[in-house]
Amino acid sequence: NKFISFNKAKIHIEGRGLQFADSVYEVVPVINSKIIDFDFHIKRLKFSLKELLINYTVDKNSLKKIFNKLISINKINNGIIYLQVTRGVQTREHVYNNKLKPNIIIYARHKKLNLPIKKFKGEKAVTYEDLRWKRRDIKTVNLLPNIMAANFASKHKAYEAILIQKNIVTEGTSSNIWIVKNKKIFTHPSNTDILKGVTRETLRILIQENKLQLVEKSFTKKQLFNADEVFLTSSSSCVTPITKIDSKVINSGKIGNITLNLAKLYSKSFMNE
Ligand code: PDD
Repeated sequence: NKFISFNKAKIHIEGRGLQFADSVYEVVPVINSKIIDFDFHIKRLKFSLKELLINYTVDKNSLKKIFNKLISINKINNGIIYLQVTRGVQTREHVYNNKLKPNIIIYARHKKLNLPIKKFKGEKAVTYEDLRWKRRDIKTVNLLPNIMAANFASKHKAYEAILIQKNIVTEGTSSNIWIVKNKKIFTHPSNTDILKGVTRETLRILIQENKLQLVEKSFTKKQLFNADEVFLTSSSSCVTPITKIDSKVINSGKIGNITLNLAKLYSKSFMNE
């Protein structure tokens, strides 16, 4: 329960988060010094903790106070808050002790966000095999397959890797993937194959409110390449257009109208709060 500088922050070498990735996390966007979609993030944090039976009772109000204090002491205008709850410290053993005291790490970082103002950009993506485990709906720090894919993307000068499982697009390494075809918007259903993104959820509501057509149905790699528009969503990327995938140019390399409209609706939704 202390705010300390980065170089004084330390963790135990037998922390289960370090040894087993036995820990869950959230990345919460901060825009104009305001916390975005706090309640959705808390809801997902509670879900991840429950699924892994980590003994931590979330106190929403005190977390909000900590987040706001971090925003103010770090003078964050645009950026993210990172929160991680680890199961705790124990002599190394796969089986955990039920009475462990979880460790909570929370910090803030400045970050440029891709909002539909001035330099709103379309990005390149690459495809990569989805090598992950079968419970991707739990937001754990067990992220090695995501890291391999993200580094493959980076090596190919791409912004994101789109993960493919048996020819089906699941999601990005740290984002949800959407396509537009004949004015219909498609994204993978929120089951155990993907993380139910908070940005995805917010956008889903905005699509409904604005009477646009959403289809929560998985789509193939071929449909991805033949889409009229492609974009991704995440807390740190907001709504980011994808204008090239592997060597295929999407929508002649331009940001599509529906993508731009959704990016604007998304940013307006919290500007008006
Ligand atoms: N990642 N899918 C995966 C695998 C993710 O890791 C993320 C978020 C998302 C989008 O979720 P949200 O809209 O709630 O950010 C989808 C965060 C940003 C990260 O790991 O940095």
